[in-house]
Amino acid sequence: PTKKLVAPSILSADFANLEKEIKAVTEAGADWIHVDVMDGHFVPNITIGIPVVKSLKKVSSIPLDVHLMIEEPEKYIEQFVKAGSDYLTIHVESTKDPAAVLKQIRALGAKAGITLRPRTAVSEVLPLLPLCDLVLVMTVEPGFGGQSFMHDQIAKISALRSEIEKHQLNCLIEVDGGINAETAKLCHEADVFVAGSFVFGKDYKKAIVELKEG
Ligand code: DX5
Ligand code: ZN
Repeated sequence: PTKKLVAPSILSADFANLEKEIKAVTEAGADWIHVDVMDGHFVPNITIGIPVVKSLKKVSSIPLDVHLMIEEPEKYIEQFVKAGSDYLTIHVESTKDPAAVLKQIRALGAKAGITLRPRTAVSEVLPLLPLCDLVLVMTVEPGFGGQSFMHDQIAKISALRSEIEKHQLNCLIEVDGGINAETAKLCHEADVFVAGSFVFGKDYKKAIVELKEG
């Protein structure tokens, strides 16, 4: 397997100092910045949106990996891409026609990602993989940082890896939720580790190095 990528989730960063936080994790070896967008409908929490993505883009030297946890993402895709999302990931449960939204993301020039809730079967996303640059496996119920890793989701990573190899697809596997040095090892078939509370806990560099060693 190739080298692992680490995408710190700024949900656990100091929101009053996002520029400083982004520079600190970049300096510490982060590959992407993971941005969690929540609308209070798809998930029971509200975070940040388009103007913040636009501001982060101005100060980030590494790609923005934007995870949309919103209903009807099709209404906002164009604005999120124009704001500077490099990867834009939607939930398969959040829209009537996920294939159309993925095509829309690519047509606008961003990398398209699909993700699923822990209770959604992996078979829901398999047919969409040819339209995706990224598939995100949620290992917590989306909505909040700092939750415990759900071990029963690991099998989805293996199923996705087999499908990607079988059809020789160009699709990265990302894992998000409860990721730390130990749980990352259990997800060795993934390419990208999202980590919020683990990275922004104390020593950013130590945490990122531990994840990459996976
Ligand atoms: C949860 C978000 C995650 C969250 C991860 O809905 O998608 O990105 O920030 O936080 P940790 O790493 O603390 O579980
Ligand atoms: Zn996320």
